[in-house]
Amino acid sequence: NFIPKATYTWQTPSNIALVKYWGKSNPQIPKNTSISFTLNNCNTITTIDFEKKEKSTYVDFDLFFEGKQKEEFKPKIAEFFKRVQEYCPYVFEYKMTIHSENSFPHSSGIASSASGLSAIAMCLMSLESEINPDLSEKDINKKASFLARLGSGSASRSVEGPLVVWGNHPEINGSSDLFGVQFPYKVHPIFNDYQDAILLVDKGEKQVSSTVGHNLMHHHPYAENRFQQANDNLTKISKILQEGNIKEFVKLVESEALTLHAMMLTSNPYFILMKPNTLEIINRIWQYRNQNGSNICFTLDAGANVHVLYPKNEKEAVNQFIESELSKYCQKNQYICDTVGLGAIRL
Ligand code: PMV
Repeated sequence: NFIPKATYTWQTPSNIALVKYWGKSNPQIPKNTSISFTLNNCNTITTIDFEKKEKSTYVDFDLFFEGKQKEEFKPKIAEFFKRVQEYCPYVFEYKMTIHSENSFPHSSGIASSASGLSAIAMCLMSLESEINPDLSEKDINKKASFLARLGSGSASRSVEGPLVVWGNHPEINGSSDLFGVQFPYKVHPIFNDYQDAILLVDKGEKQVSSTVGHNLMHHHPYAENRFQQANDNLTKISKILQEGNIKEFVKLVESEALTLHAMMLTSNPYFILMKPNTLEIINRIWQYRNQNGSNICFTLDAGANVHVLYPKNEKEAVNQFIESELSKYCQKNQYICDTVGLGAIRL
């Protein structure tokens, strides 16, 4: 089909890894399999206007973030278009005007690359599916995840939900290094509507960008063991999720978070990405769990913020605990309550 002009808007979520992706080879191929909960409230809304150009020799786009033209975000997006042009030749043929906004506060330390890049990928796929109406929804999601991966690895896990696996794994049917797939087995109901409260401990710029971080794994003395451990943890968590073994879930998820940070502590150069309040929160979570027979646990990204994970049946009690006890360790007492979600939504 010939499409002279089109506009698409997508809302795509952030995600939080349970088994972490840390280490990659080119082009954005993960060294181990990872799995994440797709989030719901933390998302990006992106609109792209496509207008057919006369000449189609170079990629041309304007970028507005929260209403303002953002030159500093352009290089990352330009690099993304460069990587996807081989798979989406039509990016040369249209002038693109991108408007994007995040639901979470600006520079909150919440990574926006997963939600941001998956939103652009969905808009590209909307255009592609009008040019080629034979594409099924499954094909569209698969290719959107494939494209998003080329922008930011974890973005491949933000197209669908509630649980997405990225990386080829012998025990996950249909899994691939090239795109994320929905966890293909029936999950125990204890994991339905799981809660994630994101405690904003440090809202500053990330000390280690994920590009630098992944590269640290290239000459890391523990890298090979770590990749093996992550793949073994994937096997374990698959069983845990199906059986509903929440005690084992807690142990595995916390160990994954601490291992991610241990990789940074032991890399060259080395980094400490936790802040004193990160540790205060972890200790308070452990205390609360022991005293209340709770199944609350924490996970971390490559930064100081803490994700508090808990089942829906503890929502009221844990929210109370966060508000009265944990919020005091957050910058300006700020935290975001989120739940597991289902992925990209066309608006
Ligand atoms: O997608 P990237 O390149 O920003 O890497 C993200 C890595 C972690 O967030 C630390 C872990 C993960 O699996 O999401």
